[in-house]
Amino acid sequence: MVGYLILACCLVGLSQAVTFVIEPFNTSAAIGSTGTLACIATNLGSDNVSWKKKQSSGSGYDSLTFGTNILSSIQNKYAVSGTANLTINNVASSDEGLYQCSIGSTTREISFTPVVLPNNVSVYWENPPYAGRVVNITCKATYANPPPYLKWFKGVNQMELTQNAYYYTTNVRSSGYGDAVSTMAMALTGLDQHQEIRCEAAYDGYERAMEYTLNIQLNGGPALKAQGLLAALFVACSLALKSFQ
Ligand SMILES: *[C@@H]1O[C@H](CO)[C@@H](O)[C@H](O)[C@H]1NC(C)=O
Ligand SMILES: *[C@@H]1O[C@H](CO)[C@@H](O)[C@H](O)[C@H]1NC(C)=O
Ligand SMILES: *[C@@H]1O[C@H](CO)[C@@H](O)[C@H](O)[C@H]1NC(C)=O
Ligand SMILES: *[C@@H]1O[C@H](CO)[C@@H](O)[C@H](O)[C@H]1NC(C)=O
Ligand SMILES: *[C@@H]1O[C@H](CO)[C@@H](O)[C@H](O)[C@H]1NC(C)=O
Repeated sequence: MVGYLILACCLVGLSQAVTFVIEPFNTSAAIGSTGTLACIATNLGSDNVSWKKKQSSGSGYDSLTFGTNILSSIQNKYAVSGTANLTINNVASSDEGLYQCSIGSTTREISFTPVVLPNNVSVYWENPPYAGRVVNITCKATYANPPPYLKWFKGVNQMELTQNAYYYTTNVRSSGYGDAVSTMAMALTGLDQHQEIRCEAAYDGYERAMEYTLNIQLNGGPALKAQGLLAALFVACSLALKSFQ
């Protein structure tokens, strides 16, 4: 059985199946910017990459490119880079839709979303940040179309905290514009003083579209410092113990 599987794999290899260097993925880009749809493949044989766009009404597809050739009526709109990304110039809302990358009989579909970035991304404490307390922190991205995802990262190690947060959208208008909000509870210690906490607005295939970094300034002067020292001492001791064991 295993032998057959290995044989099957070898035969696929021998027939030079198209291999994607990057598996095509859904993508977003800001309106007015340049969008890039990835379709990078090797083992093309004599096939060329062609791009099509699904018609917004109906189920047909319009051809855009074949190899490095771009249909003359749309040469200002598209470009092909490498083998073979599709570049969309001056992204407009009408560029939204499903794009198809075909190589011989292999096709992949990518959904492309033009977005309007939030007019503001900000991070603030819901309660005063004292060491030794559990405090809520909120990230808000306002007036974006559509509202973005929000991701959290902390400290020099960029530890991701998104999984601890509660995310929702609000003020969503029929136009699609709305706000994204993400709140999480943080158990603060003196060690958090001057740590950076970053909130990123992201869309499908478009990470770090916008971000806001807050440098943690804990309330409480000398007591905080003492607590920070104690906490540091505690961590140092537990590390020492760990290496001792
Ligand atoms: C792919 O493009 C090359 C160069 O433009 C051309 O010679 C070849 O015939 C094309 N392959 C197919 C399958 O049309
Ligand atoms: C094609 O697109 C991918 C994904 O956006 C990108 O990583 C890569 O650099 C692009 N390659 C070329 C040649 O444009
Ligand atoms: C890509 O977008 C299409 C159309 O919106 C959706 O059906 C599909 O699940 C998406 N794929 C991924 C991996 O998110
Ligand atoms: C963004 O929002 C925050 C919090 O509401 C506000 O303090 C800040 O001034 C805003 N920034 C801009 C550029 O509007
Ligand atoms: C933090 O947020 C949670 C969920 O929204 C809420 O239940 C809790 O009361 C908040 N805690 C504080 C200290 O405000």
